[in-house]
Amino acid sequence: MTEESLVCEPARLDWSEPSGPRAADYGDVYFSAEDGLEETRAVFLAGCGLPEAWQGRRHFVVGELGFGTGLSALALWQLWRETRPSGAWLDFVSVEKHPLSRDEAVRAFAAWPDLEPLTTRLLAQWPSRQKGVHRLVFSEDGFAITVVHDAVELALADMDFRADAWFLDGFAPAKNDAMWSQDVLDEVGRLSASGARVGTFTVAGHVRRGLQAAGFEVVKRPGFGRKRERLEAVFPGTPAATMPPPRKVAIIGAGIAGASLARAFAGRGSEVVVFDAAGPAGGASGAPAGLLTPRLERADRPHVRATLAAFDYARRCYEDFDGFYPGGVVRLAKDEREAQRFAGIAALMDERVEWDGAVLQMHAAARIEPARIVAQMLGDVPVHEARVASIAETDGDVQLADADGETLCRADCIV
Ligand SMILES: Cc1cc2nc3c(=O)[nH]c(=O)nc-3n(C[C@H](O)[C@H](O)[C@H](O)COP(=O)(O)OP(=O)(O)OC[C@H]3O[C@@H](n4cnc5c(N)ncnc54)[C@H](O)[C@@H]3O)c2cc1C
Ligand SMILES: C[S@@+](CC[C@H](N)C(=O)[O-])C[C@H]1O[C@@H](n2cnc3c(N)ncnc32)[C@H](O)[C@@H]1O
Repeated sequence: MTEESLVCEPARLDWSEPSGPRAADYGDVYFSAEDGLEETRAVFLAGCGLPEAWQGRRHFVVGELGFGTGLSALALWQLWRETRPSGAWLDFVSVEKHPLSRDEAVRAFAAWPDLEPLTTRLLAQWPSRQKGVHRLVFSEDGFAITVVHDAVELALADMDFRADAWFLDGFAPAKNDAMWSQDVLDEVGRLSASGARVGTFTVAGHVRRGLQAAGFEVVKRPGFGRKRERLEAVFPGTPAATMPPPRKVAIIGAGIAGASLARAFAGRGSEVVVFDAAGPAGGASGAPAGLLTPRLERADRPHVRATLAAFDYARRCYEDFDGFYPGGVVRLAKDEREAQRFAGIAALMDERVEWDGAVLQMHAAARIEPARIVAQMLGDVPVHEARVASIAETDGDVQLADADGETLCRADCIV
């Protein structure tokens, strides 16, 4: 069991320059003092051939090293809203070792009034410092941010996705070797789709050679503002056509799992139909009352990170619905042994979990009305009361039948 903290070390910011924050531990700025937003647009958006590269695509993935203030995410999101192909989805996947607090992000965003209302929407979902995956979904815009709180040199090896574009935005290589090592650049290559593009502000020789060794073709381009040069790189191959989402999806089970899936598929334009033997609210999720609490353990292990990530994600989802009552939950220790365990857990967490000697206070936890939330998640997705007894694959689709062999539905995909 590791006794390592479950939260990242916070960023240590120096605000002495009016143009924006500087990282005290790295001696470098988060964005250019000249015009950070314009530089982001030139180096990363234009550098990766955006928005042209996502025209005609149903799904596009942008990877980033160094989430920082979230300025690149905001600039990308703004461009996506202006030029998004109809019905398409953009996933932005970033990694950050020293997350900023929400208050620090508010302060940094004050410089970008043009990015409203996106800054407000991002701040409403601003992730905690918890290690691991944080997923922020903005369905109305077909946009999701997945930010992994960890060091890139640890995080990338466990990740599996294919980026169509990369923003390499660690601090200057001379000030932050770890972000630009050959191992990291090789992971960038492994996680790249055919034809992926890379944009970065640095032209350091070892970064150029490192990207080449990772399989990229690299070219220097004129830099932004007073910087002479920047880099663009392209992974070999041509971008593959993206698969459209399934036309029709059948889901068995109208509990929280089925309702979450129904919402996600419907949000991507699929026709969804749900079957439940007990009807809506018939299973465990039909309870009138429940608690949304993190499942805590005194260890930084993968399953603990996963359940904490799920807790944060559930909170963000439920906040949109009636039947969600934030305000915290307390847990009483039943004996001295449990008191010690709770004290140990609180020591690994941030201020959202506190041990006061008698109770474990989980400030971010909530009371919920599961049946109400599930009903709202399902929205107008039809729920048929029927027990699915068999599933058969036919030419190109799937067929569901009841115990009498009567066909209930045919669909392209079943969950
Ligand atoms: C008493 C109790 C208290 C709990 N309290 C909490 C709590 O406070 N907080 C918390 O987070 N969790 C709590 N849980 C756990 C939580 O309720 C479950 O983890 C969660 O509801 C599971 O959701 P689900 O969608 O996976 O399954 P369910 O909600 O059980 O949904 C599965 C659905 O599938 C349907 N189904 C199954 N087979 C078929 C078939 N062949 N054809 C058609 N339909 C089918 C069932 O009828 C059912 O409606 C509690 C559980 C129980 C039992
Ligand atoms: C130049 S800033 C990124 C700016 C950011 N893209 C923005 O829009 O504000 C570099 C970021 O990389 C992060 N970082 C530095 N070293 C890291 C590492 N080894 N792993 C992950 N993140 C790291 C820093 O904490 C910082 O947030």
